[in-house]
Amino acid sequence: MSDPSHRLEDLRAEIRLYDHHYYVLDAPLIDDAGYDELWRELAKIEAEHPELVTVDSPTQRVGASVSELFSPVQHLRPLFSLDNAVSPDELGAWEHRMERMLGRRPEGYVCEPKVDGLAVVLTYRDGVLEVGATRGDGEVGEDITANLRTLSSVPLRLLGDAPSLLEVRGEVYMTLEGFDELNRSRREADQPTFANARNAAAGSVRQKDPRVTASRALEIWVYQAGLLQGGPSLQRHWEVLDYLKSLGLRVNPGSVLAPGLEEVKAYVEQMLEEHHGLPYQTDGVVVKVDSLADQDELGATARAPRWAVAYKFPPEERVTTLRGIKINIGRTGAATPFAELEPVFVGGANVGMATLHNEDQVHQKDVRVGDRVVVRRAGDVIPEVVGPVLTPGKDRSPPWEMPRKCPFCESTIERPEEEAVARCTGGLACPSRLREWLFHFSSRGGMDIEGLGYKTVDLLLRDGAVQGPADVFFLGSEHFEGRRGWGERSIRKLLDGIEAARHRPLWRLLVALGIRHLGPGGARLITARYRSMEQITAATEEDLAAIDGIGETIAGSVTEWMDDPDNQELLARLGEGGVSLADPEPSEEIPRTLSGLTLVVTGGLEAMNRDGFGQAIAARGGRATSSVSSVTSALVAGASPGASKLAKAEQLGTPILTEEQFLALLEHGPGGILPDRE
Ligand code: IVH
Repeated sequence: MSDPSHRLEDLRAEIRLYDHHYYVLDAPLIDDAGYDELWRELAKIEAEHPELVTVDSPTQRVGASVSELFSPVQHLRPLFSLDNAVSPDELGAWEHRMERMLGRRPEGYVCEPKVDGLAVVLTYRDGVLEVGATRGDGEVGEDITANLRTLSSVPLRLLGDAPSLLEVRGEVYMTLEGFDELNRSRREADQPTFANARNAAAGSVRQKDPRVTASRALEIWVYQAGLLQGGPSLQRHWEVLDYLKSLGLRVNPGSVLAPGLEEVKAYVEQMLEEHHGLPYQTDGVVVKVDSLADQDELGATARAPRWAVAYKFPPEERVTTLRGIKINIGRTGAATPFAELEPVFVGGANVGMATLHNEDQVHQKDVRVGDRVVVRRAGDVIPEVVGPVLTPGKDRSPPWEMPRKCPFCESTIERPEEEAVARCTGGLACPSRLREWLFHFSSRGGMDIEGLGYKTVDLLLRDGAVQGPADVFFLGSEHFEGRRGWGERSIRKLLDGIEAARHRPLWRLLVALGIRHLGPGGARLITARYRSMEQITAATEEDLAAIDGIGETIAGSVTEWMDDPDNQELLARLGEGGVSLADPEPSEEIPRTLSGLTLVVTGGLEAMNRDGFGQAIAARGGRATSSVSSVTSALVAGASPGASKLAKAEQLGTPILTEEQFLALLEHGPGGILPDRE
């Protein structure tokens, strides 16, 4: 048999290349089946020749020796912390300090997302991963090599011409998707959940069993070379990042080169807006002086380099005191617990209330009145209570219990055995439920009543102007005149909005009614088959389920809703209020007045835009095209017509119509308007 070591090396190199494209560049080169085949061949040869297995073989990610795990590792160069900046002014002050030391401003900066994970140090000797360690105190960290080897984005061997020694720093983090998944499975297994992705990442790399680390969604971004020997001589941090990339290390593609502080500030602004869209947690931007010579000259204080700064986003998690737990009744009657908090500035806003989602979550998180709790507010997401911060030995109040009576209408709150949520049994007589119901009813996705937002709904209910769901359609200007904040214009706007809502298509009304499981798609399917509420009410569950696209769940829910006498009463009252409970019959067919004609428009028309022009012609059997040619029947010239189209039409002898003539053509056809065709 030929020497298997050559084949082995070829296989490893090939797999390394595919891994790099897949895990680091996110651009796979090969399909799964092809990859698996190579992998199996490699594993087979290694099984037959155990003496040829090397530590940098792709098969050796899991199962490396764990004997060194957590033993101390002296870093080759100390790892500093970073000074923080929290405002554009502080960035300015930072640059100013550097300008004083250098006698000029630094020439350019590199901005990098500040990923919220855990700092690690990887040491590659002759291209092979030798040690992976935690940051520790900056001088000495812990050996976590066996665990870091399990991360697919950490190369076991560098690509290309590797330096003799490289100590590289980076951040290991957990993807947000992986974090959610991990917490979900832990919740199911009754294990404590992680408060955030950073804690989850830190917990995952500090496992005693590398197989556990391997099962977690961990990735790495590298962002600095601590020590480089036997490699190219580099002048700029940006070149360092490029070089690290060329070695197969994973460098964040969101990093940018910024010529000056203005561009840095713009980058910070942009990241502040966009970072919630990233698939991992970030807590700021790291700004570094690009020139390595400048970096050397600036040096470091005892704590941190002078040439780098961490621009921190406003914190998205803060600890505060839980003053109380109350409930809200939603539009379906669901009782949602929420936290009343000692107000705290978090995620860029003052937060005094946060959601607790549902009864089970309160118990799972075990938050109790009086506890210190972590509050999270990220981007536009509603603030939530993450969990308690407990001090051992400190007394706590008893666990929270769902109230038995609705605080708004005193009806009983019930939770059927098999259901996840407790509900108020007061129906739409419950003022909280009615408010939420009305808000949904009038919102964009529902009847889209302009001028009837949350505040107005609340006001109308509190004043008693509206007591039931259909009352909105009985409002007149007399209900508002003389009220504070209601001028003639705002009254007109609301009444116009209500009037417009009376004539919405039936599917919108169906959605607005908030029938369980029924969304716009299902509502459209139903109203394509049944054109009135009367017909829908008369339809049986089987009738509805027979509509293509309507399943049993929706059909059952719709018939259940229609069978409820309260709901029939609501429909009747909406009808009395002038709300259309049926779609108009489809209008008779448009006569095909333009059959065989091809028209072109130039300039603007008063009666319609370009799309409307095309549609009006197509609906009447004609064709609209964009340029004048020998087949053009007529050119329609609106305001500011284009000279070239007019010239072309004149040259070809194509009739040129005014807008008025065109409208007549639409209605009556070509007779008397266009010359008879030969
Ligand atoms: S540079 C001397 N770059 O932030 C510079 N750090 O507060 C050393 N971090 O411990 C750090 N992303 O865990 C740097 N692109 C980035 C970073 C980054 C996240 C973390 C790192 C470090 C901490 C400093």
